[in-house]
Amino acid sequence: MYRTNTCGELRISDAGKEVTLSGWVQRSRKMGGMTFLDLRDRYGITQLVFNEADDAALCGEANKLGREYCIQVKGTVSERQSKNSKIPTGDIEIIAKELKVLSPSLTPPFTIEDNTDGGDDLRMKYRYLDLRREAVRKNLELRHRMTILIRNFLDAQQFIEVETPVLIGSTPEGARDFVVPSRMNPGQFYALPQSPQTLKQLLMVAGFDRYFQIAKCFRDEDLRADRQPEFTQIDCEMSFVDQDDVINLFEEMARHLFREIRGVELPRLEQMTWHEAMKRFGSDKPDLRFGMEFVELMDDLKGTGTFSVFNEADYIGGIVVPGCADYSRKQLNELTDFVKRPQVGAQGLVFIKYNADGTAKSSIDKFYTPGQLQKVKETTGAKDGDLVLILSGDNANKTRVQLCSLRLEMGNRLGLRDRNVFRCLWIVDFPLFEWSDEEQRLMATHHPFTMPNPDDIPLLDEHPEQVRAKAYDFVCNGIEVGGGSLRIHDTQLQEKMFEVLGFTPERAEAQFGFLMNAFKYGAPPHAGLAFGLDRFVSILAGLDSIRDCIAFPKNNSGRDVMLEAPSSIDQKQLDELEIKLDLKN
Ligand code: AMO
Repeated sequence: MYRTNTCGELRISDAGKEVTLSGWVQRSRKMGGMTFLDLRDRYGITQLVFNEADDAALCGEANKLGREYCIQVKGTVSERQSKNSKIPTGDIEIIAKELKVLSPSLTPPFTIEDNTDGGDDLRMKYRYLDLRREAVRKNLELRHRMTILIRNFLDAQQFIEVETPVLIGSTPEGARDFVVPSRMNPGQFYALPQSPQTLKQLLMVAGFDRYFQIAKCFRDEDLRADRQPEFTQIDCEMSFVDQDDVINLFEEMARHLFREIRGVELPRLEQMTWHEAMKRFGSDKPDLRFGMEFVELMDDLKGTGTFSVFNEADYIGGIVVPGCADYSRKQLNELTDFVKRPQVGAQGLVFIKYNADGTAKSSIDKFYTPGQLQKVKETTGAKDGDLVLILSGDNANKTRVQLCSLRLEMGNRLGLRDRNVFRCLWIVDFPLFEWSDEEQRLMATHHPFTMPNPDDIPLLDEHPEQVRAKAYDFVCNGIEVGGGSLRIHDTQLQEKMFEVLGFTPERAEAQFGFLMNAFKYGAPPHAGLAFGLDRFVSILAGLDSIRDCIAFPKNNSGRDVMLEAPSSIDQKQLDELEIKLDLKN
């Protein structure tokens, strides 16, 4: 028997028991004739004691153990002289009688403790050691608990989990596909699913009625803190439902998760239209943990003074930063540099300080009268002591997005984005299409299977950009955690959608014929949604990046530095696939 107990379970009530533990040496301390070892496993840490006076040979063996040796120890549970209230096993220690090295260890490249000295790259290269750290392990345990809660919740609601294939056909729209060459079909490629979207719709045609899958998805896109090339969705689809049915059910699921994992009771969630979110927060995923809503200042500042930047602007908007009228020149310069960074892209920043003594001081004093600045104070609702920050531009939505970056930055600076506060909402009425600068054409905002709002269908031909979608996103603390829509279940409407998206009938048939054909066989009205599991876990765990809740994540260049993937393959493999490489460099 390797162990009678784990390293996390022995208590004072076990004193006197003979036990066997197995685990890793976290630390060792020699004090006089005594050696103390912290033995760690998944469940916790238990202190071992070796006494030279009792058994000099055994103590000598213990002194030879290095960090991360995997060992087995037999001994007696005993009450500690000096207790450690910080750990659950802190009242006891094991008086060791036998010691066996199960597996020695090289000196680990970083310390396996909460505050490790290992940098990011090193920890990723030795991820199996990083995963021994409690802080990292806890995130994966939470992820496990969440998937169990989700499976049970959906099972109780008659959903069935169906696995869909990972080797499928390439579907354009959305992100880039990862592709896999086929040896048996030379020159042809599978694509890995960006999501099981079309397959789950086919399951609805098949009558499955309520489907879910904890599904691996793959997208070849630029990486950020909340994006990995390989990630997991809680993917769901339902038949015979409308938008409210889907929203209600998944809001209930979210409520269940927040309650069980964090003990937080979510209120009934607000539904905000996409237009309102853009107008008030410059984002389709507003962070509602703090205010600083946008105030439009076109009437107050355009054409009312001699500042040509504002006089030529198509949008002027500001935020009121409470209590910051005393910001120094240096602080304001920092903010100006922030908005001018290429990632934000604003031309400059205008400020108005409403001083505590009732006077105003601004960067546009020479263009506007004090009375005009007082008018801005009224419009924005600023109080004495507040700072108003203003951006302008010739494209309203672009300027709002820039102002959104500034608002979030101010939220960070003022500590208003507390990880233990959760503000969730639904964003609804997305535009069905959005303009892509890269493709120079309209693209589906969500995907081409999203149902247009029936009231807007007459606009499809003349004003497609005005058509609203029956689509909804679940947003928490400024992060898009999930999204879904009602689907088109009518072949003709689906064909129309492809036409607006610029597909020829032949291309639509070649790429989506399987779906449009299926719709000819009594497709039920259906709708669904997918939550990003990684994002959901990282919010509930209070993490900065989804990487911290993924066992073996990729780095920012999409590499697995531990497996050294991606990598080149043998010429023999290339020959079998009939692939000739012609690399430019
Ligand atoms: P969507 O593309 O909005 O919808 O994705 C759903 C959710 O998946 C998560 N997500 C990601 N998480 C980590 N890394 C990524 N690269 C990444 N991309 C997306 C987000 C997002 O909200 N088939 C539709 C869903 C539907 O309509 O039912 C879909 O995939 O949390």
